[in-house]
Amino acid sequence: MTDSNPQIVRNDVIIVAAGQGERSGLRLPKQYALLKGRPMVRYSAKTFLEHPKISKLWVVIQPGHELLLKNALDGLKDYEVVMGGATRQESVRKGLSAVATSGDVTNILIHDAARPFLSFQMIDRLLASLTRVEGAIPVLPTTDTMISVTDGYAEQTLDRDALWRVQTPQAFNFKKLTQAHKQWNADNRATDDGQIFKAAGNRIAIVEGDEALKKYTTANDFKDTSERYEMVTRSGIGFDVHQLVAGEELWLGGLRIDHDRGLAGHSDADVLLHALTDALLGAAGAGDIGDHFPPSDPQWRNASSDKFVKFAVSVINEKGGHINNVDMTVICEAPKIKPYREAMRKNIAEMLDLSIDRVSVKATTTERLGFTGRGEGIAAQAVATTVME
Ligand code: CTP
Ligand code: MG
Repeated sequence: MTDSNPQIVRNDVIIVAAGQGERSGLRLPKQYALLKGRPMVRYSAKTFLEHPKISKLWVVIQPGHELLLKNALDGLKDYEVVMGGATRQESVRKGLSAVATSGDVTNILIHDAARPFLSFQMIDRLLASLTRVEGAIPVLPTTDTMISVTDGYAEQTLDRDALWRVQTPQAFNFKKLTQAHKQWNADNRATDDGQIFKAAGNRIAIVEGDEALKKYTTANDFKDTSERYEMVTRSGIGFDVHQLVAGEELWLGGLRIDHDRGLAGHSDADVLLHALTDALLGAAGAGDIGDHFPPSDPQWRNASSDKFVKFAVSVINEKGGHINNVDMTVICEAPKIKPYREAMRKNIAEMLDLSIDRVSVKATTTERLGFTGRGEGIAAQAVATTVME
């Protein structure tokens, strides 16, 4: 998609996650409940943060839930936290006030944390609409016969063709939405921002919604997921050795390290990432690195080993799992690992989409004993702990 407007447009997002989730019947507020092993609010937050046209993410939460949110968004960067209010509209209003203090915002997208499965395409559709109109909402047609009910009895059949189901995110011109919220009578309940925007006399375009964006509301919505995704802890172990030879580059933990010799092997021979890959594959019960990337296959010649790690992560994610933490040991006499340790942790944390405190890199010598002691090669060990079906 190309921008017709070359000016810098700031598109901010507010995720409202300050509800109680009462109808879900869960003990935790539903936005922190695990879906496929990840807290619900994490899904849409991650999608927004990764979308190239989104400038800044604001997450509105209940006071006291700071730590819950921090853990839920562990490893994700650059979001702001705002304290919400007693109703959804109040939470949005507080979000808007916070955004207003941060400079000029062109567009604002308001999203319910309770709709986790958001696609890039949905964000693109809304932003494309905002180049033509000042408000846009995703809608889906109704397919059931629709009736009104009074006192427990069927009343009237409504015209299904005139009725649409409204989702979030909803996208608006920031100033116009702020103005609309100011004009709205706070005593009237609003279940979305479209109605508030419309009541202020603005037009709203509709874009095609997405069934996958469904809102998790009642216990029934969660029943499926909790039954399907009963999580258990699974650990894996990895070990690898490569020979140290003259004339090779030395790669360790995704870092190129200056040394008089380097590791020999088919790929970049990053022994630490190979041990890690095996630990991850081991946790998933998915064989070992040689099964997936055979040394006989020329396409892996000089391959950068972060590919192997990322593949192993995708295997875990496809099983609905996620990584809890990894711990590794490099075994060699030289080079000294300590000066590179933090950079390695940072690299690996990025490959795994984890916060750095969940990634440990250690090093030891073998007191000059054995092949590592004689400097003939470098060995590495890794352990990964995951949560999976
Ligand atoms: N929300 C909010 N502040 C409130 C109420 C709701 O930020 N005071 C948010 C919720 O966290 C949710 C979204 O608005 O992401 C949609 O609301 P809803 O689905 O009704 O969630 P809850 O209010 O949490 O659930 P319930 O009504 O069952 O208590
Ligand atoms: Mg509610």
